[in-house]
Amino acid sequence: MTEREPLFAALEWQLEAGVDEVVGFEPLDRFTPPPASKAPVSPPPAPGAASSRARPAAAASAAQDTAADGDLDALRERLLAFDGCALKNTATNTVFGEGPSGAGLMIVGEAPGADEDRQGRPFVGPSGRLLERMLAAIGVAREEVYIANTVYWRPPGNRTPSAEEVEACRPFVDRQIALVAPRVLMLAGGAAAKTLLGTTEGIMRLRGRWQAFATPDGPIDVMPTFHPAFLLRSPARKRESWRDLLAVKARLESGRS
Ligand code: URA
Repeated sequence: MTEREPLFAALEWQLEAGVDEVVGFEPLDRFTPPPASKAPVSPPPAPGAASSRARPAAAASAAQDTAADGDLDALRERLLAFDGCALKNTATNTVFGEGPSGAGLMIVGEAPGADEDRQGRPFVGPSGRLLERMLAAIGVAREEVYIANTVYWRPPGNRTPSAEEVEACRPFVDRQIALVAPRVLMLAGGAAAKTLLGTTEGIMRLRGRWQAFATPDGPIDVMPTFHPAFLLRSPARKRESWRDLLAVKARLESGRS
């Protein structure tokens, strides 16, 4: 065994565990015990007491609170102060979403990836570039569209967000959609479609079929479609996406006065 082999093995092990970002240039020795602290130590929580796993309560109170946010800026401020989703602890940036409020088309994807986490903007990596080309094909510029995700922070290693993480973010996503109030909501990929339509049906069956998303101001037309990342891996499925995009374009045009 060469001297470097154990180092490569350790690196590979970290990659498999989802550690695929360097967040500091100075190594930290995590094995040396910290000096004894004089600060009082909190007692362990009593059995049955609320713990850091009490996410549903955080989500429930966020749902009530977000109803008071009258615009996207207020909602963003509330999200930045929100600590109810564990993904925030490992992310570099909050990816709130972007685009004009009152956009005719809103797109919701699954979760920020590495590029999005670095830049704090949704769909700026390879999937985003394909998404922009898809939109351009129906005569829509990215800047005209409001783009967001079902969670606001990158899951480590790009894993699928857990049900708990999605649930924690959900009140914000619901409010964001209600505030943008688009003519058409396009859900990119099975995860976004399942989350926002509350179904277990897969995207293969859901895509291309109009659905409705309920908001306090009435239902919004929803088009579930393939995720651009899937299309990058399976370009032959672009034909079905194209049909979905044409349906979206027609619906957008029918909403114009
Ligand atoms: N994939 C997503 O679902 N969202 C992004 O923002 C980027 C990639």
